[in-house]
Amino acid sequence: MSITFHPEHNTLKLDTSRSSYILKIYEQGYILNIYYGAPLPDAYIPKREQRYPNASFSPSDPIIGEMGHRFRPDTTPLEYSGNGAGDFRQPCLAVRNANGDTVTDLRYDGHKIYSGKPGIPGQPSTYENTPGEAETLELYAKDPTTGIRVTLYYTVFESAGVMTRRVRVENTTDAACDIERVFSMCMDLPTMEYDMISLWGRHNHERYTQRVALHHGVQGVESRRGVSGHCYNPFMALAEKTATEENGWVYGFNLVYSGNFSALAECDFNGCTRVTMGINPVDFGWHLDPGEFFDAPEVVMVFTDAGIGEMSRIYHRFYNSNLIRGRWKTEKRPLLINSWEAAYFDFDSDKLVAFAKEAKRLGIEMLVMDDGWFGVRNRDNCSLGDWYVNEDKLPGGLTPLIERVNAEGLKFGIWFEPEMISPDSDLFRAHPDWHVHVEGRPSMPARWQYVLDVSREDVRENIWQQLYAILANNKIDYVKWDFNRNISEAGSALLPPERKKEFFHRFILGTYDLMNRLATTFPDILFENCSGGGGRFDPAMLAYSPQIWASDNTDPIERLDIQFGTSMCYPASTMGAHVSANRRAGYVTKGNVAMWGTFGYELDPVKLTDEEREIIRGQVADYHRWYDLIHYGDLYRLISPAENERRAAWMFVSPDKSEALFTLVTTRSVFRLPLIIKFRGLDPDAMYHITETDETLSGAALMNAGYWFIDVPMADKESYTLHLERA
Ligand code: DGJ
Repeated sequence: MSITFHPEHNTLKLDTSRSSYILKIYEQGYILNIYYGAPLPDAYIPKREQRYPNASFSPSDPIIGEMGHRFRPDTTPLEYSGNGAGDFRQPCLAVRNANGDTVTDLRYDGHKIYSGKPGIPGQPSTYENTPGEAETLELYAKDPTTGIRVTLYYTVFESAGVMTRRVRVENTTDAACDIERVFSMCMDLPTMEYDMISLWGRHNHERYTQRVALHHGVQGVESRRGVSGHCYNPFMALAEKTATEENGWVYGFNLVYSGNFSALAECDFNGCTRVTMGINPVDFGWHLDPGEFFDAPEVVMVFTDAGIGEMSRIYHRFYNSNLIRGRWKTEKRPLLINSWEAAYFDFDSDKLVAFAKEAKRLGIEMLVMDDGWFGVRNRDNCSLGDWYVNEDKLPGGLTPLIERVNAEGLKFGIWFEPEMISPDSDLFRAHPDWHVHVEGRPSMPARWQYVLDVSREDVRENIWQQLYAILANNKIDYVKWDFNRNISEAGSALLPPERKKEFFHRFILGTYDLMNRLATTFPDILFENCSGGGGRFDPAMLAYSPQIWASDNTDPIERLDIQFGTSMCYPASTMGAHVSANRRAGYVTKGNVAMWGTFGYELDPVKLTDEEREIIRGQVADYHRWYDLIHYGDLYRLISPAENERRAAWMFVSPDKSEALFTLVTTRSVFRLPLIIKFRGLDPDAMYHITETDETLSGAALMNAGYWFIDVPMADKESYTLHLERA
């Protein structure tokens, strides 16, 4: 049993293999968070509910006052805070009641523990593979004044070391009410002695790692762009100040959501930290008629006392096994070449077939035709929404092209941007109110396009029919789903005034609906997500597509920061990474860096030199050889490019520790600088043979004495790999 109730203390304890989490049902039904950290045998720790003496004018509950201390919601670790009822830290739930006030106070109203994990209707979430893998606690809370009821869901994946949380709000009253904010989780930690790790960036520079000390006040990352976005990722970790890749307490939080999010840490006047994560309350609201409920998205929480690297590996294993689904979760994915950087909009069937012929000679397995095949799209200013073939480019349509590509021995993939509409499109001319807009206010274009209002069922149906016609009538093995702008002037023509604030969330639910239809109707199609590179790289998208294009930046040196940051919580199996032409480094380094992802090519294969072809043939062989190790092995980040201005290094180790792949990239050369790197994750008692140098060394020597790089020529942008096999 990973979840237990302890009546003697009135506590609930949730244990994973790496953590314990204790809740206490306190007097007057307050639900307190007593502990989250390394595993404990105890079901209760005395005094945790009484430890904060400073009040700073905070009100106290008069009924609990007689306990020998003043009980103040504001100075108590609350499990899930309400609003305006004595706790002035970030509220988790604020409901505007029928009489117009937003006071929300939550008290214990029962609980239920059971084996398994329920899904969230209409939303992606993690799942259990086999019965007994997960156990769930439903903890009920109610506002004693209004009767609004909340269910806090906790699912423990004991052996994985993971806990998920989410929230359902039900209007069990007789009158309508409005949710003004609803976070998916809240956690009060007793100190603020942590660093916050988050991922920031922009188009072409997604998910750079940022680590800063917590300070008094509210800090965090958010999106109000309508999508999770390039600029911040719905991920946050708190690490002990002394925590490293290898050691120390780390708490990870990752929201399974692709829309506007908020991930905050508030350090209060007592030096305590409240973590909240969920839908961004800005421009959010949800109207609940009596009997209706609202589900907030899921947060995946990881705790480890073994450092930041271990937190990442727990996420990687868990997402590979309990988030990604379908055929391509385990089946080897075809090695692809994408037409975008090779041709942009300038292609026809003959050019694509020429790519396929050359690609086949290199050992590549699939050709992906990117943007530009539909409507009259010869540049990026038109035709989104007109998903029919441009026969000037592809005479006879898709079928003859696909037959020719297949005849060359390659599979075929295609690009769509289903949630967009160009003002210059037949779809827009037919339906000028189908884009996201506010009546009477001009809509601002981005990349010449508007966002299609997929919160509407009729709009979704139209797009679905168009996609279906293409996918059902052609032999298509892969779909790249793109999204190339953020949402402004957010609104839907169909939403009544009292529901206008529901738009952003309804939009994302519409996207999920379309993606779910695609994934379930065409389970054999490999589906890659993309948003102008990695603008929607989040766990929700991974529930539909096992891989996401990580960035439009394919420069292997700049990719290092992007890949190190992305790997904070996302596994290599999900990280779209390609070798492209015209970049700073040579093909060896481009390949070594892209190998840390799904791997593929994004170049004109006809233009390659013989020497480049030879290198690529070797990379293709390596791709097959190291596929399992990289996709499903354990990642060890050895030297981060953010912390070292000269190099980056990482290694993958197979789960049984029988093999490993080490990669070192010199970002700025230093003449004959001696270099010793301590490997990680090996079996100390095993002997390992290194293919490249024909040396055999013990795992202990490689990890403790380190590997000595002597006279390894490492000029600027060069890279070096070592393959280790248990001798
Ligand atoms: C942005 C993507 O990131 C690129 O890979 C490419 O598909 C373009 N869109 C096409 O417009």
